[in-house]
Amino acid sequence: MSTSPSTTTVIKGVRPYGEDAVDIEVTDGVITAIGQGLANKDTAETIDAAGLVALPGFVDLHTHLREPGREDTETIETGSRAAALGGYTAVFAMANTDPVADNAVVVEHVWRRGQEIGLVDVHPVGAVTVGLKGEKLAELGTMARSSARVRLFSDDGLCVADPLIMRRALEYTKALDAVIAQHAEEPRLTVGAQAHEGDLAARLGLAGWPSVAEEAIVARDCLLAKHVGARLHVCHVSTEGTAEVLRWAKARGTRVSAEVTPHHLLLDDERLSTYDPVNKVNPPLRTTTDAKALRQALADGTLDCVATDHAPHAAQDKDCEWSAARPGMLGLQTALSIVVATMVEPGLLDWRGVARVMSERPAEIAGLPDQGRPIAVGEPATITLVDPAARWTVRGAELASIATNTPYEGMELPGAVVATFLRGKLTARDGKATA
Ligand code: DOR
Ligand code: ZN
Repeated sequence: MSTSPSTTTVIKGVRPYGEDAVDIEVTDGVITAIGQGLANKDTAETIDAAGLVALPGFVDLHTHLREPGREDTETIETGSRAAALGGYTAVFAMANTDPVADNAVVVEHVWRRGQEIGLVDVHPVGAVTVGLKGEKLAELGTMARSSARVRLFSDDGLCVADPLIMRRALEYTKALDAVIAQHAEEPRLTVGAQAHEGDLAARLGLAGWPSVAEEAIVARDCLLAKHVGARLHVCHVSTEGTAEVLRWAKARGTRVSAEVTPHHLLLDDERLSTYDPVNKVNPPLRTTTDAKALRQALADGTLDCVATDHAPHAAQDKDCEWSAARPGMLGLQTALSIVVATMVEPGLLDWRGVARVMSERPAEIAGLPDQGRPIAVGEPATITLVDPAARWTVRGAELASIATNTPYEGMELPGAVVATFLRGKLTARDGKATA
C-alpha cells in the first residue's frame, strides 16, 4: 500500500472568530493543532495571517450558475472561482437551468463538474416540479438517491403556487429528510410586476409587486409545513411583514428556516429612480423600513442566514429598457463585504454571528456534515480568512463571473476575503482563485 507524504501548513497569527491571535496547523486537510508558536516547527508552508479573522468557509444556499444552458453568462467553473474568491466552500446551484435540473442526469452533471473543478462543493438544487411548470412533481426521490444526493429542492425563479402540489412536495421531502426552498411569490398578485408596489413605483410608472404577494405565500407554506410536519426554507425574504410571519411561525414550532440576500439588507427602492435595470431583481428592492427590519431579523435569528441569489445575466438582458430586463444581480464576491457594512459595522453581528449566518446555519439547513464546522482540532480545514480592515472598490469587469451585472459598481466596500481553504486546499488567495 502506498501512502502519499503528508503536507502541513501553518496559518500564522490568525484570529479565529475575531478573537485572540493563534497559529492553526493544518495537515492533510484537517486542523491538527491550534496554539502559539506552531510556525516555528519545520513545516512545509507558513501563511502569515496577522490581523486576519478566520471563519468557517461560507455556504451559499442560493446561487445561479447557469450551466447547462447559459454558459455565455456563467459556468460551473467561473461561478466556482467567484465563490472561492468570495470565501465560499459550498454553494447550492439553483435548478432553473436549461435543461432544468429536474432529473438525475442534470443534477449528477452539476455535482460531478463541481468536483472536477475542485474549488468549491457545488451541490445541485433539484426542481420541485417537472420543467418548473408547477404542475407535476419532479422525481425527487431519484434525485435524492443519485450520486448528487440532492437534499434541497426548489423551483426558484418561480413559486410553487398550487397549494396541493406544495403539500405533496412537503410530504415527499419529509420522507426523504430533505427541504423545500420556496420562492414566495403569489403569481396572481404579481402579474406584470416590475418594482416594489409603493410610492416610487407609482411615480415611475412601474407595475407594482406588493409585499403581500410574498407574505401570503410564506404564511400559507408555514401552515402547510406545520400541518405536514415537514421542513420549509424561505428564499430571499424581502419584507418586514415576512419577518413577522416567520417570527410567529417559529414561535409555534414550525420547522421553517429563512434566508436574506445582501442586496435586500443594503439597497432599497430609491435605487430605481435612475431606471437602471442593474437594480431589477426578484423579489424587488423594498423600502428602507424593510431593509432595516431585515437587518434586525437577521441579528435576532428570525432570519437564519445570508444567501446571495447570485444571478448572472448577459449584457443584452440587462442593458435594455426596464420592463424587458431580466431580474437578478451578481452576489458571490460582494456578500461578505455587504454583511460587514450592514451588520458588523453597525454592531448588529460580531464575527461569531457572521460565522453563524454565512456558514453554520446554512450548512445545518442543507444537512452538510463537513461544512460550517467549528475551527477546532480534528475538524476539516475548511476556512475563510478575512481582512476586516481592508476596503476595496467593486468593478464588475474584474469579478470572476462572466457576467458583470453588479449593483455595487464603483462602490467602496469594507472587509475583504484574503484566502479560502477547502479541506486544507487553498482555493483562493489575494484575489486569485487557485486551481
Ligand atoms: O432576481 C432573480 N433572479 N430572482 C429569481 O428568483 C431568479 C433569479 C434568476 O434566475 O435570474
Ligand atoms: Zn427566487
